[in-house]
Amino acid sequence: MRHFLTLKDFSKDEILEMITLAQKIKTQTKSKKIVPYMERQTLGMIFEKSSTRTRVSFETGIYQLGGIGLFLSSNDIQLGRGEPMKDTARVISRMVDMVMIRTFEHTKLEEFAQYSKVPVINGLTDSYHPVQLMTDYLTMIEFGKDKNPVIAYIGDGNNMAHSWLMLCAKLGLELRIATPKGYECDKLIVKEALAFAKESHAKISFSNDPKIAVKDCDVVTTDTWVSMGQEEEKEVRMKAFEGYMVDEPLMSLAKDDAIFLHCLPAYREYEVSEETFEKHAEVIFTEAENRLHAQKGIMVWLEGKQNG
Ligand code: CP
Ligand code: NVA
Repeated sequence: MRHFLTLKDFSKDEILEMITLAQKIKTQTKSKKIVPYMERQTLGMIFEKSSTRTRVSFETGIYQLGGIGLFLSSNDIQLGRGEPMKDTARVISRMVDMVMIRTFEHTKLEEFAQYSKVPVINGLTDSYHPVQLMTDYLTMIEFGKDKNPVIAYIGDGNNMAHSWLMLCAKLGLELRIATPKGYECDKLIVKEALAFAKESHAKISFSNDPKIAVKDCDVVTTDTWVSMGQEEEKEVRMKAFEGYMVDEPLMSLAKDDAIFLHCLPAYREYEVSEETFEKHAEVIFTEAENRLHAQKGIMVWLEGKQNG
């Protein structure tokens, strides 16, 4: 049995297998050919944080695969009243076929997985958001940006930055990360990613200068400056991130046909200007839709591993 906790647990071939499955199922879904890959299966979806895309895409996705999703907000289940994660895992995983969790500390997700009898999918933790990165890579392929792309990540060294690091390190891509001083990526995660990068020949660099990062790149991406759980730091962060907005002057340094990706939700005139956001809306909302397709690829792949 395999879990989907971070991309570091997968080989390049496995990542590409899941992407290929996602493409196949997307084509089938678009031509109204519904294949019940997960007939009568139940996906438990535990949320300790808010969500629009993750909830709707997983719930719709499992339904389209022939199963059903259970939305379990921590406000409504005993987890929110202090029932231990390991007990929650042992109960829920005896009743459902797969679990997706969105939580805070990554160790909570790992604890759940350790006690779970069924595959567990990371729907975002403070450290990683791997389902989003599978989606972003699928979107890059669709927009012709998967052949030796140069990717620039501008902003917070957060769960999205860490996931970009792992994706690029595994697939051997070039990634330039620009963060303000004091908001760099986690040192341990960087160390792990650089070890994978050595194997895959990925080119990964870090700076505190968005202009250097974006120069002649193919893909520009960013994320909110204030992640869920950091609301109290908002004022301090807004000051620290000044000069890191992705706007037209910055985009003009990238290649003319560069795409802009954003996992959403987007905060206009903070991490991205309204003008740049709207100019790239088609890509951004295809990316949002692709959550549905990429995650179906992941779920069906995990399901396949369970049955040998
Ligand atoms: N990108 C993303 O995960 O969106 P939600 O927080 O709405 O699920
Ligand atoms: N970094 C953001 C991503 C939201 C999808 C957060 O964790 O809130």
